[in-house]
Amino acid sequence: MPTHKIAVLPGDGIGQEVTPEARKVLEVVGRATGQSFEFEPALIGGSAIDATGEPLPPATLALCERSDAILFGSVGGPKWDNLPQEKKPERGLLGLRKELDLYANLRPATCFPMLIDASPLKREVVEGTDIMVIRELTGGLYFGEPRGREDFADGGTRAINTMAYTSREIERVARAAFDVAMKRKKRLASVDKANVLVVSQLWREVVTRVAKDYPQVQLEHVLVDNCAMALVHKPTHFDTIVTENTFGDILSDEAAILAGSMGMLPSASLGGRVALYEPVHGTAPDIAGQGVANPIAAILSAGMLLRYSFNKGADADRIDAAVLRVLEQGHRTRDIHAAGHKLVGTKDMGDLIAGEVERSYS
Ligand code: IPM
Ligand code: MG
Repeated sequence: MPTHKIAVLPGDGIGQEVTPEARKVLEVVGRATGQSFEFEPALIGGSAIDATGEPLPPATLALCERSDAILFGSVGGPKWDNLPQEKKPERGLLGLRKELDLYANLRPATCFPMLIDASPLKREVVEGTDIMVIRELTGGLYFGEPRGREDFADGGTRAINTMAYTSREIERVARAAFDVAMKRKKRLASVDKANVLVVSQLWREVVTRVAKDYPQVQLEHVLVDNCAMALVHKPTHFDTIVTENTFGDILSDEAAILAGSMGMLPSASLGGRVALYEPVHGTAPDIAGQGVANPIAAILSAGMLLRYSFNKGADADRIDAAVLRVLEQGHRTRDIHAAGHKLVGTKDMGDLIAGEVERSYS
């Protein structure tokens, strides 16, 4: 069996704590199935800035380019907040997305039945929610030119970002979304602001054209403000959502909290040869270093890695099932804890899930 090379980029904050738990679970899968995984760590984000002066050191990019998949933690933190935009930890992640052409970001938001009461929404509203957000990840406001600031002689300043998309960029993420929708309930909501933005008009035009190749998928166009409202009003309306970069950033956080905690949600960034897998939650500076972060999002991201990069859907299913079992047994990290449950830390939660995964093979 070939060796799968996995670049491990824990980054900053709780990324340092949850990524080892995800790796632990992959090691269990490797041992149980005879697949050979080779893990190589590298610096990214604030920790890379501290060590090398750059958020994305060339050695890290080179490692990612010669790996088969990337297991990513999170980047950023108050320590680096005052650096200029181009030097911030977040640039490390944005640089990887761009360099590796990771244009399709899959963010599932599933409401786990045993966590319904952790959701800020009423049970009857949120029950049954199962959404996949596909966020375009390498275009739009995040990368559009021109960008920057200019100072006026009178002391005033003007700053610009540009929302730009080519039909090719829209088409490829639309195809990715229709492909995902085909494997789900075959319903796709394309989210835009076509009543105001010309970029969105092109978006709608291209998505409508691509839809002709997917006659079984029921497509609807939803305006982004309306979508933001519908997500909290009737989240079960949605199955698969596709949208541009900034709208996707915002809506995927909103969808994430429906599930009870950001600590539960994984993501996959696909498109180029090497894909990247990261928990959606970010660095959580308020709880970093305490050993209390929820590793489930990172562990489920490792499951997505097996599913999408190595075509090992059955092993990914075991990880998903192990997470459910451990939750059913009543174990909870602090973010999803409620009276009557067993409170555990990051490492214990990782060990419990790894143990369940191991048992599933015996
Ligand atoms: C995300 C994050 C990033 C983004 C930040 C860390 C640059 O919020 O992955 O959603 O805005 O894309
Ligand atoms: Mg975000």
